[in-house]
Amino acid sequence: MTDSTTPRGTLRADAARSHLWGHFTRQSAWDGGVPTIVRGEGHHIWDDTGRRYIDGLSGLFVVQVGHGRAELAERARQQASELAFFPLWSYAHPQAIDLAERLASHAPGDLNRVFFTTSGSEAVETAWKLAKQYWKLQGRPGKHKVISRAVAYHGTTHGALSITGLPTLKEPFEPLVPGAHKVPNTNQYRAPEGLRDDPKAFGRWAADRIAEAIEFEGPDTVAAVFLEPVQNAGGCFPPPPGYFERVREICDQYDVLLVSDEVICAFGRIGDIFACNELGYVPDMITCAKGMTSGYSPIGALIASDRLFEPFATGAASFAHGYTFGGHPVSAAVAMANLDIFEREKIPEHVRANAPVFRATLERLLDLPIVGDVRGEGYFYGIELVKDKATRETFDDDESERLLRGFLSGALYDAGLYCRADDRGDPVIQLAPPLTCGPAQFDEIEQILRGVLSEAWSRL
Ligand SMILES: Cc1ncc(COP(=O)(O)O)c(C=O)c1O
Repeated sequence: MTDSTTPRGTLRADAARSHLWGHFTRQSAWDGGVPTIVRGEGHHIWDDTGRRYIDGLSGLFVVQVGHGRAELAERARQQASELAFFPLWSYAHPQAIDLAERLASHAPGDLNRVFFTTSGSEAVETAWKLAKQYWKLQGRPGKHKVISRAVAYHGTTHGALSITGLPTLKEPFEPLVPGAHKVPNTNQYRAPEGLRDDPKAFGRWAADRIAEAIEFEGPDTVAAVFLEPVQNAGGCFPPPPGYFERVREICDQYDVLLVSDEVICAFGRIGDIFACNELGYVPDMITCAKGMTSGYSPIGALIASDRLFEPFATGAASFAHGYTFGGHPVSAAVAMANLDIFEREKIPEHVRANAPVFRATLERLLDLPIVGDVRGEGYFYGIELVKDKATRETFDDDESERLLRGFLSGALYDAGLYCRADDRGDPVIQLAPPLTCGPAQFDEIEQILRGVLSEAWSRL
């Protein structure tokens, strides 16, 4: 194994500093060292010095069935030998056909049509473009705007970034695609006074903000609403009771399409293969990616209802959109093998059975003065850090910078936990371990967090 203290390890770190451009990365953070992960096995990853870490984030909400699954690697090898590549432009291949059929069988209602992409951003981009073309074909060309929620992350391509509700990520690239409007999210912990202790009333209030935005923009101009089942950015905001029921009603009332952006939440993260099934609503489209292959090969998808496909079903109409690598045969084959593992090992059942234990284990941290809120669903949690629990006062920008970047990220990693300290909203620790984890791994994560968060508090 390469070691960062060996000549090759040192040279490679130098090469990274000279040539590799990190994603969402402050390159200066690499001056002190380049964290280089070389191997994964089960719930653990190893760096180039041989140190082991528990993977508390499944890579990036991706590695559902854990690292080092030889059967997924073998399936990729077989498929690359048989047919490494063919596009879905006018042609089909068995791997895409089989996977489309299987995804449709898990999707709710009449969501039967699958358009493959290579990533989540492309799936979101595809959903907005489809919504626009669909409404044009319905003779309603004015319906082109979209609504999404404050602080939500939906990807980085121009359309997906416009739907994203994080001003600091958007500002460098303005002007973006016009017509993307934002409404409040479902952060119960920071709900308006009077609604904080009444989740049902808060859910109604938050859903009604979507109706208000549609009215304000004009129903004849709004094409779609993009919502995650459980919003990631900001630190895991589950939907309050009744929220999606009311959103569905509003979308039906105004003829606006509901897109369930399940790039994180699908493939067992919340329990079911699709989170909307678990949470009891039927969208018009689902976008998904990440966990479809557990990360063993990249792929994404948009799943659309029969109603949305209908104008394209006959005659000369076609959806003028596509990606060279969308539905790549190797990725599609690996996705099928990944779903075989889901079935054989009963991954959704395992998540449902163990999710209450995960919640209870993380809630033990509420005895720490710095832990304001523990929230999430399934194997997907956010821990919000506060300066004052009684008042819920958060940290200012400087404190946040010192706490998250200056201390927590490095300290958690040094203590053997790979996860994410995020300040895109209020400061949170994000956790999404592989879905094969159980109580032993939850305890390990809790113990590391307890030590590091206690230390962080003593430094404030
Ligand atoms: C909800 C959601 N949508 C879209 C995306 C974009 O996916 P990708 O990074 O694969 O483009 C992400 C990525 O984290 C996401 O969380």
